[in-house]
Amino acid sequence: MGISYDEQNSIFRLENDFFSYIFQITEKGILRHLYFGGRIGEFDPSSLTDLGWDWSRTYLDADGAEKIYADNYYNDRSLAEAASHGLMDKSGAPFIVKKKGGVTATSFVYESHRIYNGKPELSTLPSTHGENAQTLELILKDIYGEEKLLLSYTLFENLGVIARNSVIFNCGKEDIVLEKICSLELDLPESNFDLIHFHGDWCLERFAERKPLSNGNFSVASNMGRSSHEENPFAILCAKNADEFSGEAYAFSFVYSGNFRLSVNVDKWRRTRVLMGINEEDFSYTVRGGEKFEAPEGIIVYSREGFNGISHSMHDLIRDNLIKFKNAKSLRPVLFNSWEGCYLDFDTQSILGYIENAADIGAELFVLDDGWFGRRDTDSRSLGDWFVADYKINLKKIIEKCHSLNMKFGIWFEPEMINPDSDLYRARPDYALGDGKHERTLSRHQLVIDTANDEVVDLLFERMSAILDGYDIDYVKWDHNRNIGEITGSRAEYGETYHRLILGTYKLLDRLQKKYPDILFEGCASGGGRFDLGMLYYHPQIWTSDETDPVQRLFIQYGTSYAYPLSAMGSHISKNPIMSYKDKGKIALFGTYGIEMNPCLLTREERDEVKEINAVYKKYHRDVILNGDLYRLRSPFEGNYMSLMSVSKDRNKALVLFANILKENNRYRFLKLQGLDRNKKYSNSLDGKIYGGDYYMQVGLNLSVWLDEFKTYLVVLEEA
Ligand code: GLA
Repeated sequence: MGISYDEQNSIFRLENDFFSYIFQITEKGILRHLYFGGRIGEFDPSSLTDLGWDWSRTYLDADGAEKIYADNYYNDRSLAEAASHGLMDKSGAPFIVKKKGGVTATSFVYESHRIYNGKPELSTLPSTHGENAQTLELILKDIYGEEKLLLSYTLFENLGVIARNSVIFNCGKEDIVLEKICSLELDLPESNFDLIHFHGDWCLERFAERKPLSNGNFSVASNMGRSSHEENPFAILCAKNADEFSGEAYAFSFVYSGNFRLSVNVDKWRRTRVLMGINEEDFSYTVRGGEKFEAPEGIIVYSREGFNGISHSMHDLIRDNLIKFKNAKSLRPVLFNSWEGCYLDFDTQSILGYIENAADIGAELFVLDDGWFGRRDTDSRSLGDWFVADYKINLKKIIEKCHSLNMKFGIWFEPEMINPDSDLYRARPDYALGDGKHERTLSRHQLVIDTANDEVVDLLFERMSAILDGYDIDYVKWDHNRNIGEITGSRAEYGETYHRLILGTYKLLDRLQKKYPDILFEGCASGGGRFDLGMLYYHPQIWTSDETDPVQRLFIQYGTSYAYPLSAMGSHISKNPIMSYKDKGKIALFGTYGIEMNPCLLTREERDEVKEINAVYKKYHRDVILNGDLYRLRSPFEGNYMSLMSVSKDRNKALVLFANILKENNRYRFLKLQGLDRNKKYSNSLDGKIYGGDYYMQVGLNLSVWLDEFKTYLVVLEEA
């Protein structure tokens, strides 16, 4: 693997076992993209850049002879690494910088570069990191202004991934305004692609939709102030014949939790341009002379083995090169969460009862969700008042009870919000977003607190620290329950507010996690409204959705798995009556695994079912699910079944989940497995027999039986 520079031809090559990524510096200093795809050897770059004779470039001279215009009449069709703005290329610019006098033409040309081992982290934003990486940094200069662009590319040894960063330095004295800054650009010399994006809603997150690309522009974006339920900052661009296990596919992702836009443009040249960055709507950011702006990191993934290859690279990148939590690879405790059992309606006595019953069903971490602070008997008050509601609960006693039963204790916060009915708001209404003159929109009775204001970040840090110092707490659930509107804040300019809010949130997370490195943080945003790489840097797991109906979860967890590993997907056995506890448990196992209902109401049989699933969790989860390789076998978006399997990295063990949705008669139904070692023999818990890896992958598990609706199988394979 490596990054190399061919000085004679001014060509950069970034290569590993997965791909070659090649670009060139032209005579004018512009970076011209040449190739991104499966690994290739040496070639003559002119064979990639020659677009042939072009009628529009010829004219009839006065003498009647056909001549070719000497000027580069159409110089807009090259593949770019950082396309210009305001010149001839009209297919979408990654950078628009407004300079003195309102000039927005922006065109970056090469100045210098360096190649080095490793990967520096960004200074203000979460980003990937790692030893097994090499980085190329280029310094480019805008020919229309005094700013420079640091463009960097990181190549990881064992991943089909390139991480891209851009930093703009204002080297002049005058202010400049960034009107648009993308984190990645990829130009491809073809357009016969499909695009898969992951759209949704509250309780319907990350539904996969595949659509053909056509001429023009299609974009997937959020302007909600968070990465959103509606569109996830991740999409796959693939060949028409690409499927789970074969065909070429590219994917794009973003290490950021705020507004984003991923745009795909097919122009008249049948060139496809992908841009991803901060959503330019409501974005305009002033960089003063001598200062810099760091854009969030962009991630590009390549696979010649279909979507499965994309997922493997994404999952390994997230687990090995993104998540910071030091214990992320260890088996996590069986989590019990109080929310769906009692919502806000509890007292010390009832929670002690919950704890005893949670311990009885095998929970190892008890999480007291919303309702423990201020005067939080209803969801219309107290966000911001992060003091224990002593009138309602005795928190010390609750934690002692957990410890006496060998359970850890965790607690819920929603730091980025404030209720108008709170002591904090009464004292400091200016801490809420909004200009104070216009009505502020309430959503779930709450307003957004201005984390762009450092004073607010300090206050939240102090209040949360007081709780985390004062009580023995092992886990924090970090929630965010509304979209952001009325973005006027007291400290930031309008066009800077969205970005500064998320920077403030990252600052707070950073400080807390440095102070409490042993605490396990779980992200949440009304369920899965902020499931993104920015949050995963801080939270090794995220509550995937407030939807705990196990059938809906088949879709949600399946869609989420394209980008995100099972180790990140919060999934619990809930009280939903549609399936047995055991069947719900099988689905919850394909995630971080937890339990969430009133445990006092469980019958003896139901308790035994949960315990049976706990036993599987203990035995297999760490190697097979948390750190293993995932394969999607049947898509619920395309048929009546959902099937996932996960295989330990050493290929010794695997778990297979199969669920059908509507009732089906007996019919031939063989489920061919993936990812096993052909030369090994495995026992399976379906028929109790032993077969070779090749048998399971070529013949499959025989499920040719009558299937009642929602019938669910969990099959364990172990090397015999
Ligand atoms: C959000 C979360 C839930 C729960 C509630 C508490 O909706 O997604 O899991 O924590 O908030 O208010």
